[in-house]
Amino acid sequence: MAVMKIVKLGEDDVLRKKAHPVKLIDRRTQALLKDMAETMYAAEGVGLAAPQVGILRRIVVIDVGDGLVELINPEIISAEGAEVGAEGCLSVPGRRGTVERPTKVVVRALDRKGRQIEFTAEGFFARAVCHELDHLDGVVYVDKMIEDVTDQMMKDSEEGK
Ligand code: NI
Repeated sequence: MAVMKIVKLGEDDVLRKKAHPVKLIDRRTQALLKDMAETMYAAEGVGLAAPQVGILRRIVVIDVGDGLVELINPEIISAEGAEVGAEGCLSVPGRRGTVERPTKVVVRALDRKGRQIEFTAEGFFARAVCHELDHLDGVVYVDKMIEDVTDQMMKDSEEGK
């Protein structure tokens, strides 16, 4: 296991490229999933896409607090609702902003053994899925950002204002 270097926006155009589908799920893929999860946890993120560690493959890991979700070749097969909420990105440190995302998405992907899985994600989990899947198409949340979230806004929302 290893913590990988996270590419920051502007450092490398790997964040701007379309990632390739995974054709063969092997031990290397499984090792990458493990390293990506370790990297995400070490950086205290809730999601990480392979391009963020310099690998142009359609692989993401997400953990919004309900356990690790590993997705290979993920696709959103349906989406509904819309909600504006704050998000940040490990590739864009020190910044947060609001983005409109679906409130509910149905996702189809392969798991680490190559089995097809399908699940519904709602709320912040849906937001994280959409954010990470965007990375696979070279899209970073700042492209869709409505406005920056300032420290004062964060403080106000924590205080329930
Ligand atoms: Ni991100």
